[in-house]
Amino acid sequence: MIPFNSPTMVGHELEYVREVLGSAKWCGDGPFTHRCEKWLEQHFGAKRVLLTTSCTDALEMSALLTDIQPGDEVIVPSFTFVSSINAFVLRGARPIFVDVRADTVNIDEKLIEKKITPRTKAIVVVHYAGVACAMDEVSRIAHRHGITVIEDNAHGLFASYRGARLGTLARMSTLSFHETKNISCGEGGALILNDERDIERAEVLREKGTNRRRFMRGQVDKYTWVDVGSSFLPSDVNAAILLAQLEKHDSIQTRRHEIWREYADGIAKWCAHHDVKQPTIPAGCEHSAHMYYLIAPSLDFRSRFMAHLKNHGVATAFHYQSLHLSDMGRRYGGREGDCPVTEKMSDSLVRLPMWNGLTREQVANVIAAVNSF
Ligand SMILES: Cc1ncc(COP(=O)(O)O)c(C=O)c1O
Repeated sequence: MIPFNSPTMVGHELEYVREVLGSAKWCGDGPFTHRCEKWLEQHFGAKRVLLTTSCTDALEMSALLTDIQPGDEVIVPSFTFVSSINAFVLRGARPIFVDVRADTVNIDEKLIEKKITPRTKAIVVVHYAGVACAMDEVSRIAHRHGITVIEDNAHGLFASYRGARLGTLARMSTLSFHETKNISCGEGGALILNDERDIERAEVLREKGTNRRRFMRGQVDKYTWVDVGSSFLPSDVNAAILLAQLEKHDSIQTRRHEIWREYADGIAKWCAHHDVKQPTIPAGCEHSAHMYYLIAPSLDFRSRFMAHLKNHGVATAFHYQSLHLSDMGRRYGGREGDCPVTEKMSDSLVRLPMWNGLTREQVANVIAAVNSF
């Protein structure tokens, strides 16, 4: 069976982990954490990057930093992972679900403005499959209404929009280093801060609400509890794995783009013949080769297609189920028909295996399996 995903070692992972375990510092904020943060700060040109234990944690920090209060409204696409909105609901926010575009599967920017009320505090955008949302339009709307934008960039490391890296297009953005992502350390994430004014509070929130960071820098002579917070920082063991992967990002990305392109070319005719849609990459967007998805004409087609590929030794996966129709979504008033494109995507989108360790032979087998359906 060709797995849907398989995390792959690419460089110095074992050596770096051994280095941490041989040192007297296994906890967070050690030398590898600092090296990863510096690497990412340079990559993004960010004011500050803080490693976290997951993208979920980075989103929770975003909710704290944007000072979400009970009753505030947060706009989010219905077609996303639960953490994109749960982080805000945890602070008492009400989720406002917006449908996605049929071409990019990203939040439909044309639907955002009519959802804005005096209670709207934030818009969370998700660059699905590492293809940028229409950020110029989203930013214009947000600016007009004085609303904060947060990029959930779990899929979009190394992607860009009109020449700017995804993750640099809003006040803050989040990354995931879960084992399914392009760069992985098992579980991990990062908060990218693009506004200097967020740095000090973010450091406190991540250190259980204490000013320990200022103490470590010698700026105060003892550290104390100064704000709310939690333990969002990962151990240096995770950071050691992460650094090894970041160092090899060029070869990882090159391989992922090769696979993506081979799929796109190898099944194009079959897709046209079966009314199956391949991903759309709008002009001005460079994608991250995070995933390769197809949009089937119906749920029945998708079920038969997935069973066929399984019988041919290829694992596939569908993706998000509409959040507005989840048990929680319904508690906030979600109903069938609210987000018709999202509902269709939940039933028709299917993802092919995508990881940098896939061999040429495996890619050829996936393509052959698709073409034989
Ligand atoms: C869009 C999006 N946001 C957030 C997350 C959560 O990431 P993590 O598992 O690192 O918390 C995911 C998970 O895949 C995701 O797809």
